[in-house]
Amino acid sequence: MADLSTELCGIRFKNPVWTASGCFGYGREFADVFPLSELGAICVKGTAPEPWVGNKGTRVVETPGGMLNAIGLQNPGIDYFLNVDWPWLREQGATVIVNIVGRTVAEYVAVARRLEGSGVAAVELNISCPNVKEGGLAFGTSLKGAAEVTAAVRKATSLPLMVKLSPNVTNIVDFAKAVEDAGADAVTLINTLLGMSVDIRKRKPVLGNLFGGLSGPGVKPVALRMVWQVAGAVKIPVVGIGGIMTGADAVEFLMAGARAVQVGTACFVNPRAPIDVINGIAAFMAETGVSRVADLVGAARPAAGAEGNLPALGREAGTKPAKVATGETADALRQFMKDSDRF
Ligand SMILES: Cc1cc2nc3c(=O)[nH]c(=O)nc-3n(C[C@H](O)[C@H](O)[C@H](O)COP(=O)(O)O)c2cc1C
Repeated sequence: MADLSTELCGIRFKNPVWTASGCFGYGREFADVFPLSELGAICVKGTAPEPWVGNKGTRVVETPGGMLNAIGLQNPGIDYFLNVDWPWLREQGATVIVNIVGRTVAEYVAVARRLEGSGVAAVELNISCPNVKEGGLAFGTSLKGAAEVTAAVRKATSLPLMVKLSPNVTNIVDFAKAVEDAGADAVTLINTLLGMSVDIRKRKPVLGNLFGGLSGPGVKPVALRMVWQVAGAVKIPVVGIGGIMTGADAVEFLMAGARAVQVGTACFVNPRAPIDVINGIAAFMAETGVSRVADLVGAARPAAGAEGNLPALGREAGTKPAKVATGETADALRQFMKDSDRF
């Protein structure tokens, strides 16, 4: 029997497949489709100290490779979660990670404090929220903001602390290192990529909010590249998210260095997607003779010591690779990057 369990932040999750925040609600709509206890974990919708109403107008639009959303982080607030959703989720035997949103550092801290001792497994900070004290610049796109909110929540809670990174930055590695230094126990990435859509008949933007977050299979290569970069740069575990639709997609993220993955947009297309992903990973393991999922983690990465020879994405200009990489993976990667220069 294959061992699908994965260990992160001192917790052993029964498998590495979690549902992504905002794409699975609080699980109620899915509980008739499969037992929620079958999931590695559920990351619930971003939760604020008070209820948030969300954006007006059109909030979701399909794109060729996924969807754009501008929900505006609508949520019923921490009191509702603790009084209504959490007791129900507990009854289902679900492992729950609470995604936290806030407009100020104090708001993130307030939610984290309320969760202390509640029995939830961990908190995940969604730092892609506008920081009202920095003129609306998202916490996750300012190194100072990202570090500040992480350090403040670190002080406020003894729960495992995951920080969910925004991909809308020049160098995601800098952000991963900043939150690691500020006390994060793990990083999860990626959140959505900023995009927009225009209605050519109405001659105006489709989304009421003008811009929205792009997710789904179209973002997978970007997410995978960022997971690869971050996994090679930080010591804390990495959780990969972005366009995962199948077990094979998930295995790619695990092999790039993710210790767990989250399934988001796929749940809108196929409510059984997270279970299909779990079964797909198990089938891949059976087919290729892998008995522990942990053996897939980082399997596509070069052996320790050979990393310096891989293409210098994210490395400072002018620094030289240290040693010559060997092996088929390294050769294939070098060839791929050479080919990709053409695009
Ligand atoms: C409708 C919708 C709502 C989302 N809400 C949240 C949220 O509340 N907090 C958060 O951290 N991420 C949120 N996300 C981002 C997802 O959790 C995930 O990071 C992103 O969609 C990329 O994964 P995917 O391509 O598998 O969907 C939301 C995404 C969608 C599509």
